[in-house]
Amino acid sequence: MSNLAARPPAATTRPLQVPALVLVAAACLPVAASAGDAVRGAVLAAPCASCHGTDGHSPGEIPSIAGMTPEDLSRAMLDFRSGARPATVMNRIARGYDEPEIAAIVAYFATKAQ
Ligand code: HEC
Repeated sequence: MSNLAARPPAATTRPLQVPALVLVAAACLPVAASAGDAVRGAVLAAPCASCHGTDGHSPGEIPSIAGMTPEDLSRAMLDFRSGARPATVMNRIARGYDEPEIAAIVAYFATKAQ
């Protein structure tokens, strides 16, 4: 998808994006979420709006994801990704993101819930 091409270059300017640390962030959100994750998450989460509405406020039949706790959002994405949670489209969408990217998306939506 086009968001992959739009991804910012390697994280040389973001020392917090050490993969191990980001994985810890995924497990401990929102406590460990960093501002850098949220900015990156905003880019990664842009395609979500086409189905889930602006900032996750769905205008239609697709469920809103605004207001989900970071834990629930993270769990849902990881379960869609692994196939543990059946879905029509979200399995394929979630597989397009690795775990640090999911953590960044979760961090972004956490800033919208405040
Ligand atoms: C092509 C449309 C589409 C896009 C794009 C999309 N979703 Fe979804 N999403 C769905 C549908 C449809 C469902 C209902 C489950 C299913 O059938 O796949 C869903 C369900 C979900 C759920 C579960 C909501 C609940 O109430 O439990 C989460 C969380 C979610 N999506 C997150 C995201 C995130 C994050 C993104 C962006 C990375 C995204 N979705 C992009 C269509 C989409």
